[in-house]
Amino acid sequence: MSKQQQPQPQQQQTTRPATAPITVTALADADVAAQAAAAILERRASGCAGDARASGTSTPTDETRRQLTIAPAAAAAALLNGTITAAQNSKRMLHRFDQSEVKVLLLENVSPVAVQTLEAAGFQVETLKGALSEDELIARIGDVQVLGIRSKTHVTAKVLEAARRLLVIGCFCIGTNQVDLHAASLRGVACFNSPYANSRSVAEMTIGNIVALARQLPDRNREMHQGIWNKVSANCYEIRGKTLGIVGYGHIGAQLSVLAEAMGMRVVFHDLQQIMALGSARQLRSLTDLLTAADFVTLHVPETPETKNMIGAKELALMKPGSYLINASRGTVVDVDALAASLKSGHLAGAAVDVFPSEPAKNGPNFQSPLLGCPNTLLSPHIGGSTEEAQRAIGLEVSRAMVTYVTEGTSQGAVNVPGITLRSLSAANPLTVRVTNIHKNVPGVLKKINKLLSHFNIERQTSESLGPVAYLVADVTLEEGKLEEELRIIHQGISTIEENILSRVFY
Ligand SMILES: NC(=O)c1ccc[n+]([C@@H]2O[C@H](COP(=O)([O-])OP(=O)(O)OC[C@H]3O[C@@H](n4cnc5c(N)ncnc54)[C@H](O)[C@@H]3O)[C@@H](O)[C@H]2O)c1
Repeated sequence: MSKQQQPQPQQQQTTRPATAPITVTALADADVAAQAAAAILERRASGCAGDARASGTSTPTDETRRQLTIAPAAAAAALLNGTITAAQNSKRMLHRFDQSEVKVLLLENVSPVAVQTLEAAGFQVETLKGALSEDELIARIGDVQVLGIRSKTHVTAKVLEAARRLLVIGCFCIGTNQVDLHAASLRGVACFNSPYANSRSVAEMTIGNIVALARQLPDRNREMHQGIWNKVSANCYEIRGKTLGIVGYGHIGAQLSVLAEAMGMRVVFHDLQQIMALGSARQLRSLTDLLTAADFVTLHVPETPETKNMIGAKELALMKPGSYLINASRGTVVDVDALAASLKSGHLAGAAVDVFPSEPAKNGPNFQSPLLGCPNTLLSPHIGGSTEEAQRAIGLEVSRAMVTYVTEGTSQGAVNVPGITLRSLSAANPLTVRVTNIHKNVPGVLKKINKLLSHFNIERQTSESLGPVAYLVADVTLEEGKLEEELRIIHQGISTIEENILSRVFY
């Protein structure tokens, strides 16, 4: 995020309920586990751990109070039955969240695998098939902590203002344009997406395109639908032994490289970066080298100022007569007027285009493009990454990221708060607690936090800034017998720092 720092809105003085996950790991036997469970219940009595925005402090939840009325031994047994097991592996760690406390709202028919993942973490999940308008979302978001959307729901600054308890937004799609990321950062709301879960789907469709073009399937298919039987073999080819030129050897380009070689193609590629080639693929020095060498040119670069009209009339003229072009990257990468002219002149023998400079906002008739009616031209409505498998992979990736962020504070993969990963807390040291803090990215805040934490033994600490906010995660070991008191000191101390946006404590 490259947004400038802006004047900060006044932070809410919200009091948030205790929502800290319970971590019990490496328990040698049931007695130890029972003691640990009882200790956890005692600790939860304090209500001193949880989340606090701005100067808020936490209070015990109803669930916590209910559990405190259970005799410690019985409570320990109940916890043991449900959530705490003697770990086989001493490094294994279990996290536990009170099921009643994390409310999830999933919109736009998010994959069922996401629902399962979130429910398995003990979250309460509500799903809706469609998107919500701004007003509808504002009416529902008040007590939601985890929001899942796809591309049609817009999370505006106004929505975020109403989202008093929101911790995280999961965009179950590639982009995050539909979220006001700046406003989300300023409210301490992390946003996750899944930019690469559909790479395989795009690579497979590109292979399909290559075969279809080599066999003139776009024309034969059109003729057959018109009732024309036209059995020809002239200028129809196998792809074995042909040269595939991949422009952009990233997530999709590299997958495609492996698949194409398995089909017997020779693979060359061009990328801005020097990249280790897979299999027998060869990196070429320039785009010109690739264009003049390849029988099939396929584009897998991002949309940047440098890639705008990367393939225009000049580049098309450099391509071999009778070669083919495939674009499943971004519509702006190809000058479609020049491509249409090249196809109509017969210089190119065909093209497959999945992405367009201007794409309709919704499904329906009257799509317009200079490529309509061009010979041996396969057009598709930006479906390269649209498969059930990709949706499932996106569902899994985003929901897992949200669970880990909510239950552990790990922000790896977030787009608007710094990505921080610390290894899990271990039960070998039950006095170690985790403090996470999103604060305004202004000078002097770390000094205040460190002044507070310096009274304790800091096991690990990391902090990074991104745009208007910084994220700090610290694992701190407290003194035996003073756990409750010290947790309270840390939590209250950090959440009353002026620049605090969101503080959480895990124990
Ligand atoms: N059709 C679809 O449905 C669909 C689905 C997913 C992704 N995409 C698009 O596919 C494209 C590639 O996606 P990805 O996940 O492989 O991206 P990626 O970031 O993993 O890889 C892109 C590669 O392009 C290279 N590159 C960037 N600028 C370049 C330039 N000017 N010249 C040469 N190489 C350059 C980068 O170094 C990188 O290796 C993106 O534009 C993405 O939006 C389309």
